[in-house]
Amino acid sequence: MNTPLGKLLSSFARVFALLPLAATALAQTTAPAPAPASSAPKPPPVGAFSNASPILFREGGAGLPPYPVVVRDETPPAKAARMKWFHDARFGIFIHWGVYAVPAKGEWYMSNAKVPQATYRAFAKDFTAAKYDPTAWAALIEEAGAKYMVITAKHHDGFTLYDSKFSDWNAVKTSAAHRDLLQPLADAVRARGIKFGLYYSQSQDWNNPGGGTGNRPAWDEAQKQGSFDDYITKIAVPQVREILEKYHPAYLFWDTEYSMSPERARPFFDLMSEYPELIGNNRLGGGVLGDTGTPEQRIATDALGRQFEVCMTINRAWGYNATDLAWKSSQQLIRNLSDITSKGGNYLLNVGPDAEGIIPEPEVERLKAMGRWLHTNGDAIYGTEAGPYAKSPEWGRVTQRFKPNGGSTVYVHVWNWPANGKIVLSGVPVAALSGKLLANGVAVSTSVSPAGLIVTLPGSAPDQDVSVAALEFSAPIQVIETVARTADSSSSGTPLDPSGGTPQK
Ligand code: GLC
Repeated sequence: MNTPLGKLLSSFARVFALLPLAATALAQTTAPAPAPASSAPKPPPVGAFSNASPILFREGGAGLPPYPVVVRDETPPAKAARMKWFHDARFGIFIHWGVYAVPAKGEWYMSNAKVPQATYRAFAKDFTAAKYDPTAWAALIEEAGAKYMVITAKHHDGFTLYDSKFSDWNAVKTSAAHRDLLQPLADAVRARGIKFGLYYSQSQDWNNPGGGTGNRPAWDEAQKQGSFDDYITKIAVPQVREILEKYHPAYLFWDTEYSMSPERARPFFDLMSEYPELIGNNRLGGGVLGDTGTPEQRIATDALGRQFEVCMTINRAWGYNATDLAWKSSQQLIRNLSDITSKGGNYLLNVGPDAEGIIPEPEVERLKAMGRWLHTNGDAIYGTEAGPYAKSPEWGRVTQRFKPNGGSTVYVHVWNWPANGKIVLSGVPVAALSGKLLANGVAVSTSVSPAGLIVTLPGSAPDQDVSVAALEFSAPIQVIETVARTADSSSSGTPLDPSGGTPQK
């Protein structure tokens, strides 16, 4: 955005908020108060702080000192408005697709097996995308009930799914696909009202000159050509500018922070700042906080109180792995969505299409099952807030919606339907005005007891995975309990160990 307005907005966003304090201070605040742009102090030199804080260490990246935190300069209401679609979406689909689909051993294969560049690059002649049907992908995403999607513009192997001016190692110039794979998907999902997001591996790039190799030393002489700083300025930053200009993603998913100092992260942050609506995750590094926490392969909230998004695979691998048959059940996936939403987060669930562009059938089946459940029970998920409990009840989960008229709807997600038809919302001292099962509209009654609100469920479970009762109240419910909700401080940030990311060796 090179308009005067764009420049003004981006200069507003270029504010360093300094945070030379301990982790506790960081943990208590979601966004440190930014200094006015005109008087923004210069960031202290890198390394000026102690490395005592696990939180700052995570934000700084493996082995690097903590940095001054960089955030967009915006008011809390402006941020809430920017984040609204993401908050309300609750469910997104992640797509890992690239040349790694040819050897079919997951997206870390080149690094895990120390495949030389020349050998790996040869796989591109079999990356045909011959059966790629972006309209069908978009239809599946819609049928799954997902409201956004994120696809790998470039993963750690450096291969881009679009034609880049800054590297020929891309789908159009180097692979058998010979075409841009992103634009048709962007068009197809947007036509269905689904937000289009992109993943970009800014630090690791195992094939382009100077690209990082993560926490593994280079395994091929060819990877020792070029400097990391040249890679950042000549390939990564220009490619990010390219994908922002070409595809206007609503969300950017950075990945792995290795070697991302503040100086290296800065140009990426500045680019993002040119797009006032863009949302970015927390994995850029260099002190850039980002908008979303990204607990990976586990359900946890964000230690800094950011909107969080649990990303997860359906089997074990992100990229197509022909022998990985460890499929999670659709019940597990539906319960994960219920669980994550009850904690106030989003679920970004991954599929890994093969080299022809076929999404494996077990993934298709599970996404459709989620869509069937959401079709009936979506009110309990989309646009809801975290439930009122710090510790989840044994019988299931709770989400809630605050209504403009001051009332609230409490969604009781019943995982284990009780034999006597009764569950207790502990600590809730008021009866509901009314209640019903979302599956069939049958009335649900409530009564107050010393233990809390007794909910009497009619008949048997209408859904074996999760049955939802919606209870209407005249005001948001207050739970009388002694334990306060706390963030799970063990759960934020990027797993920096590749074997922790994708265990296919
Ligand atoms: C990890 C892995 C990567 C995957 C990502 C998804 O960081 O390195 O392969 O893309 O997680 O969140």
